Amino acid sequence: MTTTAIFGAGVMGETLVSGLIRSGRRAGDLVVTGRTPDKVRTLAEHYGVRGLANAEAADTADTLVLCVKPQDMAALLEEIHDHVVPGNAVVSLAAGITTEYLESRLPEGTSVIRVMPNTPALVDQGMAGISPGRHCTDDHLAEAEALLSSCGKVVRLAEKHLDAVTAISGSGPAYIFYVVEAMIEAGVVLGLPRATATELVVQTLYGAATMLRETHEHPTVLREQVSSPGGTTVAALRQLDDHKVRAAFVTAIEAAAARSKQLASGQV
Ligand SMILES: NC(=O)c1ccc[n+]([C@@H]2O[C@H](COP(=O)([O-])OP(=O)(O)OC[C@H]3O[C@@H](n4cnc5c(N)ncnc54)[C@H](OP(=O)(O)O)[C@@H]3O)[C@@H](O)[C@H]2O)c1
Repeated sequence: MTTTAIFGAGVMGETLVSGLIRSGRRAGDLVVTGRTPDKVRTLAEHYGVRGLANAEAADTADTLVLCVKPQDMAALLEEIHDHVVPGNAVVSLAAGITTEYLESRLPEGTSVIRVMPNTPALVDQGMAGISPGRHCTDDHLAEAEALLSSCGKVVRLAEKHLDAVTAISGSGPAYIFYVVEAMIEAGVVLGLPRATATELVVQTLYGAATMLRETHEHPTVLREQVSSPGGTTVAALRQLDDHKVRAAFVTAIEAAAARSKQLASGQV
């Protein structure tokens, strides 16, 4: 079994450690690092993994998973540069940090993989897109896929598609939460207690998502099943169409992808 080091013991770092242990990785094969020693110690003790300094972790690990914020990436790469050897895989979860950026700051020929994860990984329902760099081997890509599979689903795609992945699944949970907020508000307007409205909406969302996943039916088919002619659902959907909600979603997601592209090219 190979050793995996998670650099950056924050939200994503801990999510991965916890997912990997629950999916059967031995704690002894995992290492964590961080900037604040207390945080690293707490995490290491909680999961029974080793807490090390960045350089030592890079020396120990075969797979290096970089979970720091994009603005902290340059400093981290400088710290580990001399400790990355041929045969290592470097996996980055940082939004907008390209494989070209990573490759140019690591020894020539390093195998790198860029990942776009999302927050439902916290509850093992993540959706991650992964893209190989120029020197990435099939084994390394498979290892990155296995790592991310510990907390959700993974799709492999070319890096040119990662702006779209960022816009759809990366930012996607926020769009869904926004719709949920609106539906709860509507329930309150109609006189329901807020807690009841919340329970109705959350379970409806969960049920609808489960139907999509388990029936494999097209969403249009599922929608038509609840749209009786002249009934309540079509009255509501007519309003959504009149307010161009579908077009607004497409435009919003296009804007997120454009912003992702800007950020990846270094524009603030
Ligand atoms: N959270 C998300 O939903 C999400 C979604 C998609 C992508 N991502 C990506 O995942 C990455 C991590 O995000 P996050 O939400 O987990 O951030 P976070 O909670 O702030 O965690 C980042 C961690 O990195 C540590 N750190 C900073 N510089 C370091 C260094 N040189 N060496 C070791 N550790 C260092 C920080 O330490 P301190 O606490 O001491 O500052 C912090 O604990 C980001 O690049 C983000 O773009 C996150």
